[in-house]
Amino acid sequence: MASFLWTVCLSFLLLASGSKGAAPRKPIDVPFGRNYVPTWAFDHIKYFNGGSEIQLTLDKYTGTGFQSKGSYLFGHFSMHIKMVPGDSAGTVTAFYLSSQNSEHDEIDFEFLGNRTGQPYILQTNVFTGGKGDREQRIYLWFDPTREYHTYSALWNIYQIVFFVDDVPIRVFKNSKDLGVRFPFNQPMKLYSSLWNADDWATRGGLEKTDWSKAPFIATYKGFHIDGCEASVNAKFCDTQGKRWWDQKEFQDLDAIQYQRLDWVRQKYTIYNYCTDRVRFPTAAPECKQDHDI
Ligand SMILES: *[C@@H]1O[C@H](CO)[C@@H](O)[C@H](O)[C@H]1NC(C)=O
Repeated sequence: MASFLWTVCLSFLLLASGSKGAAPRKPIDVPFGRNYVPTWAFDHIKYFNGGSEIQLTLDKYTGTGFQSKGSYLFGHFSMHIKMVPGDSAGTVTAFYLSSQNSEHDEIDFEFLGNRTGQPYILQTNVFTGGKGDREQRIYLWFDPTREYHTYSALWNIYQIVFFVDDVPIRVFKNSKDLGVRFPFNQPMKLYSSLWNADDWATRGGLEKTDWSKAPFIATYKGFHIDGCEASVNAKFCDTQGKRWWDQKEFQDLDAIQYQRLDWVRQKYTIYNYCTDRVRFPTAAPECKQDHDI
């Protein structure tokens, strides 16, 4: 009976949501070199299977990182990552989009390592016009070191959605009408890096990197980029409104996606700037647009 009711309820939600929301397309795997180049410490990146899989290495001398060759205005940006296994305390693995100017826009995923068996934290942030301070932190519902999982950002003129696999973990709506800047005219590059941040990453910096466990290794694949490639100076994308991520079903989440987002908020969220009244006595304006907060 319970499961019958549940099915009725779910179908109702599906009907109610119509064809509004949709999960992003599954990206295809292409070799690293097609879209990316190393940024620093080139010798700390290792390539496998013709470059379709890579490893970043952090040791006591240096971490490393890579970036996209192109800059993009809107799209769906994803990466398959297997985080540093075992004792990863003090390490941070990041995957983000960022524009290259002073009042920059940025969309961030940061994975904060931990001692063996202790949970990673996924911290996300959004910068618009150089202003950040929009951290959210969650635990994941799986061990991110065991298998590849897909971390992605959908970015169009309506919203920025952070996905972990197919689950939306965060939405940043375009709240231009509330006076909040929204990234729309500064092309961004994709970046990823692995580095030592034991001054803040794990339990606020209490847990230090254990260099006797080095090297620390994160593994990546899936280097396809689904975005509108722009020149660094482009103020708009001439295909805007015509690509799949601009279409109706990607302009808002549907009821099922909002349900999953609520599930993440209720069960896995450990910090949300929208509800931090110590740091922000008045919540940021965009938080009002935030479904159910
Ligand atoms: C690491 O583990 C501790 C203890 O379980 C936990 O409090 C903390 O949130 C975890 N993650 C990080 C990145 O500190």
